[in-house]
Amino acid sequence: MFSSTSLSLSFLALLLCFSAVAESSSSKSNKPPAKIGQGYRLIAAEETPDGGLIGHLQVKQKNNVYGPDIPYLQLFVKHETDNRLRVHITDADKQRWEVPYNLLPRESPPALKQTIGRSRKIPITESSEYSGSQLIFSFKADPFGFAVKRKSDGQVLFNTSSDESDPLGELVFKDQYLEISTRLPKDASLYGLGENTQPHGIKLYPNDPYTLYTTDISAINLNADLYGSHPVYMDLRNVGGEAYAHAVLLLNSNGMDVFYRGTSLTYKVIGGVFDFYFFAGPTPLGVVDQYTSFIGRPAPMPYWALGFHQCRWGYHNLSVVEDVVESYKKAQIPLDVIWNDDDHMDGHKDFTLNPTNYPRPKLLAFLEKIHSLGMKYIVIIDPGIGVNSTYGVYQRGIANDVFIKYEGEPFLAQVWPGPVYFPDFLNPKTVSWWGDEIHRFHELVPVDGLWIDMNEASNFCSGKCKIPKGKQCPSGTGPGWICCLDCKNITKTRWDDPPYKINASGLQVPIGYKTIATSAVHYNGVLEYDAHSIYGFSQSVATHKALQGLEGKRPFILSRSTYVGSGKYAAHWTGDNKGTWEDLKYSISTMLNFGIFGVPMVGSDICGFYPAPTEELCNRWIEVGAFYPFSRDHANYYSPRQELYQWDSVAQSARNALGMRYKLLPYLYTLNYEAHVSGAPIARPLFFSFPTYTECYGLSTQFLLGSSLLISPVLEQGKTEVKALFPPGSWYSLFDMTQTIVSKGGKYVMLDAPLHVVNVHLYQNTILPMQQGGLISKEARKTPFSLVVTFPAGESEGKAQGNLFLDDDELPEMKLGNGKSTYVDFYATVSGGSVKIWSEVQEAKFALDNAWIVEKVTVLGLGRRVDASAVEIDGKPATGVSGVEVSSAEQVHFDDDKDGGKSTSVMVEVKGLSLLVGKKFELAWNMGIKN
Ligand code: NOJ
Repeated sequence: MFSSTSLSLSFLALLLCFSAVAESSSSKSNKPPAKIGQGYRLIAAEETPDGGLIGHLQVKQKNNVYGPDIPYLQLFVKHETDNRLRVHITDADKQRWEVPYNLLPRESPPALKQTIGRSRKIPITESSEYSGSQLIFSFKADPFGFAVKRKSDGQVLFNTSSDESDPLGELVFKDQYLEISTRLPKDASLYGLGENTQPHGIKLYPNDPYTLYTTDISAINLNADLYGSHPVYMDLRNVGGEAYAHAVLLLNSNGMDVFYRGTSLTYKVIGGVFDFYFFAGPTPLGVVDQYTSFIGRPAPMPYWALGFHQCRWGYHNLSVVEDVVESYKKAQIPLDVIWNDDDHMDGHKDFTLNPTNYPRPKLLAFLEKIHSLGMKYIVIIDPGIGVNSTYGVYQRGIANDVFIKYEGEPFLAQVWPGPVYFPDFLNPKTVSWWGDEIHRFHELVPVDGLWIDMNEASNFCSGKCKIPKGKQCPSGTGPGWICCLDCKNITKTRWDDPPYKINASGLQVPIGYKTIATSAVHYNGVLEYDAHSIYGFSQSVATHKALQGLEGKRPFILSRSTYVGSGKYAAHWTGDNKGTWEDLKYSISTMLNFGIFGVPMVGSDICGFYPAPTEELCNRWIEVGAFYPFSRDHANYYSPRQELYQWDSVAQSARNALGMRYKLLPYLYTLNYEAHVSGAPIARPLFFSFPTYTECYGLSTQFLLGSSLLISPVLEQGKTEVKALFPPGSWYSLFDMTQTIVSKGGKYVMLDAPLHVVNVHLYQNTILPMQQGGLISKEARKTPFSLVVTFPAGESEGKAQGNLFLDDDELPEMKLGNGKSTYVDFYATVSGGSVKIWSEVQEAKFALDNAWIVEKVTVLGLGRRVDASAVEIDGKPATGVSGVEVSSAEQVHFDDDKDGGKSTSVMVEVKGLSLLVGKKFELAWNMGIKN
């Protein structure tokens, strides 16, 4: 709704308000962006029947820098939900490219009104403040600028208005160049804008542009546009001790540079429209909830996907793969999923099998064996389809006309099979053909998921190519990535050589370099120039559809290239990293960013993709990687073997860390459910749980799983200690529950971390469901549960809470209410010496059918020793009855608030229980002094 004040009055107020913001946020040391134009003026505004606002903008003074200005723009503003505001700006006269509405479903803005702005002014009848949700939109007419304010705390989140004393570039809108800037308070912490390997950690650093354009350059390139494009950032501010978070998405798929200068942020985009979405927060979890409710909730994962995965490029034949599976078992290291890179293919061609190295009958026998154990098999698929007239996939592709075109012919590129064409996943015919190919392949090999790689799209050549006469391109014999086609650069169109050059590949290479020429054409005349960065996303959507139609099971897809909304369909790994200590560190920041991007199932190649990791590094990497949401060891063709059993020491670290992961699978699976219903990342930066604790805002060397489990790994060579930050509260070591850290106001602690040790701490007030682990998740899932309950150490009053989601993970949907899932809330209190732990169960049947029980409860941080005879279950004495045993032990605190830095509390363990998970229970005792 508009407020009722008159426009002129509120403009005055706004001008004052803008200058106040400008003063507080400006910094003389940061250069403002160069001014390209005089901006636009607002000439009319009106309210739409459904409560939106339409404004009409006219360019103030035309110029030709980066092409002519678009004379009239249409502004559309809408409070789409209570916490989401949309600001859409486009050419008033002509439809422009936008992320397709069928790929990322959302409301359409009103149709363009061709006459408005030029011949007929719409009277401005209402105020310039437009509220109606948690966010308030306000604008300034001349030059046009807008601000977004959060109602609850009055903070200005985004402010594009320039000011004489503190100039900011004006709005620029040309066919191939769009620019807009916002001011930011200098102490705002920003996260996101990827995919990008950030050497400075998770917090955005005022630096080179953050360039967004999907690109196959390896993840070792710092500050460069990598495989995915996510033009979204979260902004976290601490104002007077209170934390406020919000997010800003610019939904645009064209290449862009985003300059973050500390007190301002400037978008320079080479096409499309300005389509901003503001998410009000104010908590980080609230932000990801609001963001993923818009872009699509993260895909539910099958249970096994949370197990450990082994892959490598260069498993030359099936016997090697069989040996890998056997060797994991022999080394007693958990393994759920074995992968093939393109080694199983015939001549590197998708959906084929090499008859010599991967004979189908033997492969089927192998799969039958591993499937019977609950293990899974995944293979790679690249988008490039080998140009080969005897290859069925190609023949059917040609017959269905599924490929991206250049000058009327399929666009020719080169990838592993040699010359290839790229399917156009924006074409509905391609989606059907792709589904059919996946179906045929699944008949040939019953794979359990698909890995879609090289989908930025990656091309070993650039420009317009033809197959050289009399020269054979390499195919089917090892990886060859030297362009073998006869190619000519394409520079003749403004799509191939746009006026503004984004910092592509960190080097300002042409945007068609080693990808599809940007003047190539998709379905319905869509230019690759516009659709480039959604290629991998469109492939994920098509692949997901195909897998869903196969066995009706929950699909698993791993995609290298991602875009806004990819998390709804696919998991992601961070691409080709290096086996170095730096890359181990960077993997944490990238993983945490993907949680914010709505792609929580993410991890990096454990031990590094190439070259060879050292033994020590591989030890430390599995100690981190065991806690990535997606945990996979993968290596390059030319790297030596690096399966975890290759070194005894790594095997030991793996048994330890993965052993813990497999005990935590019910917790990880519950986090997977939480991600699916609310977007909550599985791996999170600490500020998600401690948003007011500014010390952790930039912390990128530790992370949380869920809200309470803190991973503090060693990330440096030769270290056997790690300096870890502990936000205020009590933290219990999960590996040695008698070790506790009591952190009053938050502190760094030097933790012991010998080679095989990774520090994992559980926060107070938590109930963590665990199982007994195992070597395959299917087996681990059958074991009894235990609960770890944590209270603030030694306090006489405390509360704790936890939950557990269980379902049949083969179901395509992950939800309650289908008769095949159970949700349990666990609660605990300690008060005046009484301890009570109880559960509430929703939809008990699934848990009861599986006869899961809780057989142990461990309570940490109690103030006094337990009287062993006093435990009651559901009001009846239980100690000593049918094997129930109670024991207690002293816990030592590292507590520098106490004399000598040590204090103690009590850990109580109640064992021998058989509490049904599917039935509510109450366990209670009174604490007494034990003699
Ligand atoms: C590039 C991928 O990033 C890598 O993981 C894979 O091994 C190779 N392609 C070969 O398929």
